[in-house]
Amino acid sequence: MTASFSLTDTTDADIPAITAIYADAVLNGTASFELDPPDATEMRRRFNAVRRAGYPHIVARDGSGALLGYAYASSYRTRPAYRWSVEDSVYVAPSAKGRGVGKTLLAEIIARCEASGFRQMVAIIGGSEHAASIGLHEALGFAHAGTLPATGFKHGRWLDSVLMQRPLGDGASTLPDPGTYPGTLYRPA
Ligand SMILES: CC(C)(COP(=O)(O)OP(=O)(O)OC[C@H]1O[C@@H](n2cnc3c(N)ncnc32)[C@H](O)[C@@H]1OP(=O)(O)O)[C@@H](O)C(=O)NCCC(=O)NCCS
Repeated sequence: MTASFSLTDTTDADIPAITAIYADAVLNGTASFELDPPDATEMRRRFNAVRRAGYPHIVARDGSGALLGYAYASSYRTRPAYRWSVEDSVYVAPSAKGRGVGKTLLAEIIARCEASGFRQMVAIIGGSEHAASIGLHEALGFAHAGTLPATGFKHGRWLDSVLMQRPLGDGASTLPDPGTYPGTLYRPA
């Protein structure tokens, strides 16, 4: 079933609801390898860092304005040779799962990252048994790129890191023009 919802850029006013959605994922799921939910101050700091670096950060809300989920791109790894690659993150409120919110959010993050010129998107999925996240990424064109077994320990068990990857735009078929780098973390020398 597809519910009616809309996507907008995240604003500071969304931080409390984002903090609550992420806290549920940290406490009850394996997507995040954090063990203690960050407070709103820390979530605001992370949001501002993502935006300052030039990555998209968006929310989905229903007709009443309630936040259903959020998604963003961020640096895959911070060493500058990784600068054309991004990592995606998407979190949906427990009551809104299975209605197409995650797929719509992630599709928009992919579109924005492609339009701005990034070349690869990487997903690092917590747990080989995390069917929802693996299925979501498969549905949007990500391919399995490997599994790092037992790299996490949470909820009393070992967790694999499942790597999935999707080219953006030209991917690796052309060389990037350093002058068009879309982020702000790195500047061409
Ligand atoms: C993973 C998550 C974002 C999916 O969001 P969602 O809104 O529930 O997913 P959608 O309804 O948009 O489903 C999109 C696709 O994902 C797959 N999918 C979703 N839930 C699934 C499940 N429980 N089992 C298998 N596949 C599933 C399906 O392929 C689905 O496409 P379809 O509806 O065309 O079959 C959501 O479950 C979530 O927030 N989980 C906790 C946080 C997390 O794991 N985030 C991802 C890591 S960055």
